[in-house]
Amino acid sequence: MSDILVTENIQGASMIRLIDDLDVEFDAYLWQNRDLLKQKLQDAKALIVRNQTQVNQELIDAAPQLQIIARAGVGLDNVDTDYAHEKGITVCFTPDANSLSVAELTIGLMLALLRKIPEARQDTLTGGWNRLKFTGSELNGKTFGLIGMGRIGSLTATRARAFGMNIIAADPYLASDAPALKELNGRLVSLDELLAEADVVSCHSPLTPTTRKMLTYQHFSQMKPDACFINTSRGEVVDESGLIQALLEHKLAGAALDVRETEPPEQSPLNQMENVILTPHIAAFTVEAQERVVDSVCEDVRLVLSGKPAINV
Ligand code: MLT
Repeated sequence: MSDILVTENIQGASMIRLIDDLDVEFDAYLWQNRDLLKQKLQDAKALIVRNQTQVNQELIDAAPQLQIIARAGVGLDNVDTDYAHEKGITVCFTPDANSLSVAELTIGLMLALLRKIPEARQDTLTGGWNRLKFTGSELNGKTFGLIGMGRIGSLTATRARAFGMNIIAADPYLASDAPALKELNGRLVSLDELLAEADVVSCHSPLTPTTRKMLTYQHFSQMKPDACFINTSRGEVVDESGLIQALLEHKLAGAALDVRETEPPEQSPLNQMENVILTPHIAAFTVEAQERVVDSVCEDVRLVLSGKPAINV
């Protein structure tokens, strides 16, 4: 049995050093075998996960020696942090490490949607040369509506603003005079106003009991028929069947989803929709972000196991 368990695919130079220096068991698929994982947790002092290991009460109870749960990523929705804290276990995550990459993918998806890049590529590959068919829209002068304007939302808004977009945001935790908004000449609006006004609606909300299935058919029906929806946050924030129905009824023009209600997703009508771009939760997956993520979790694990406090808690 090892001191440190890594239950998902978390690679990088810092991880190699951690494996060289300390007693680490690295098994990228261990998250899939709960019984084995619970057995191995009996002696573990540190657990390093991404987003697929569900670190709930049952798992925490199986780990009497555990000192730290390190989440390689920003969302803590798969970790019962309250219960871990009750048990005196440190929970660390990587709040800043991948925000920029998520923001950049959001902009990439927006450009791909508005310029119809995936459809144009597909058509060209199959022998087409249909220039007029793939006439798109510019970002300049359009309204970018953010549902949630925390770290990732703000970085995305800054980039959207650089394209000449007008920024509006709906966020219960944001003040109307927040510097992040003022600097971008942005406006705080209600969710209803945002859905009615935005040309691109981009979701940057964390998954919490309040935000689960927060966006339903009724919400998508309020969007402008030529507007698009992008989600690079958490799939469970969206009622996917409601989005599908709204797309089928042309209540909105298209969608780009990096995250899904179930991951990996089942077969879905979304797969057949030309105006929908689907990617496999890759927003945080850049060389740079993953290096920062792995550096950060490895450092915090080393700190806690040497009796010092973790940095990113
Ligand atoms: C995150 O929460 O950091 C990203 O969604 C990527 C991940 O879950 O691993």
